[in-house]
Amino acid sequence: MLTTRPLHSDFGTEVLDFDPARLDEPGYFDALHQLFETRSVLVLRGQRMNDEQQVAFSRRFGPLEKTKTGTVGTGTPLVILTNLDEAGNVIAPSHRQWLEGLGNQLWHSDSSFKPIPALASILSARIIPAHGGETEFVSMRAAWQALPDKLRARVEGRVGVHDYAWSRSLISPDLMTDAEREELPPVRQAMVRVHPQTGEKGLYLGSHLARIEGMNDADGRSLIDELTAFATREGSSYTHRWQAGDIVIWDNRFVMHRGRPYAPTLKRLMVRTTVAGDGPTLGQTEEARAVAPASTGRPGVGL
Ligand code: OGA
Ligand code: MN
Repeated sequence: MLTTRPLHSDFGTEVLDFDPARLDEPGYFDALHQLFETRSVLVLRGQRMNDEQQVAFSRRFGPLEKTKTGTVGTGTPLVILTNLDEAGNVIAPSHRQWLEGLGNQLWHSDSSFKPIPALASILSARIIPAHGGETEFVSMRAAWQALPDKLRARVEGRVGVHDYAWSRSLISPDLMTDAEREELPPVRQAMVRVHPQTGEKGLYLGSHLARIEGMNDADGRSLIDELTAFATREGSSYTHRWQAGDIVIWDNRFVMHRGRPYAPTLKRLMVRTTVAGDGPTLGQTEEARAVAPASTGRPGVGL
């Protein structure tokens, strides 16, 4: 039903003939959704969706998160990632909005600092710089599969503390506002995630992961750094070189991503919608996860 090509041997698929006009045909969205579940990153080129079309398309994957305080687009389902001000002029690199963008250049998984982290992110390219500004992805399922047994044993069953204040402190000590601090206290997350239908495992790391419960800070940090280095090692990533009109969809449960640098004088405008997760990463046994219903009719999240 869909013509595809792989982006990396481990993960990632480009759909070459995606046609939004066919989304209501029986089985069409299901085929796309199935690819999302198995391949973790989907690329759809030449879409040029506007905000309304992007929101409507994204909602097919599930309820959307509302954008947190302190981010352009707050209170709506849209995250606006840009170095442009409201008049369309480039902002200075000293501007808070530019520093926020630098935060996205650290390997991360979206919303891992929320009690229920995001399922999927859907990012559309509206204005892209001539050089730089790519987005790079790694598969955390592939990382888990390749992880040496000794490292697996050190991480299995552990709980990670994800803290937005931590990841922002890596960029600038006063980047996080009081309102963000209030809204986003640290949260506990599983360090190994399990796919609810297939039982496949993935490492769950990222810039917001500040420490590991039950380990002192130095040991926790060195384990996090070792795991991150392994997951992002040479040859493990797919780098998306954007064209205006591209849509990239990724599974935050099983990939990390990071933005790549670009010159602050060049214009970049990206719009993200974020599909809410369906439950906490802890507190469900693997057995319970295995019988959890498919991702429909989920109460109490987002819009
Ligand atoms: C995001 C993100 C990186 C980029 O949209 O969540 O981290 O390249 N983007 O814009
Ligand atoms: Mn992100």
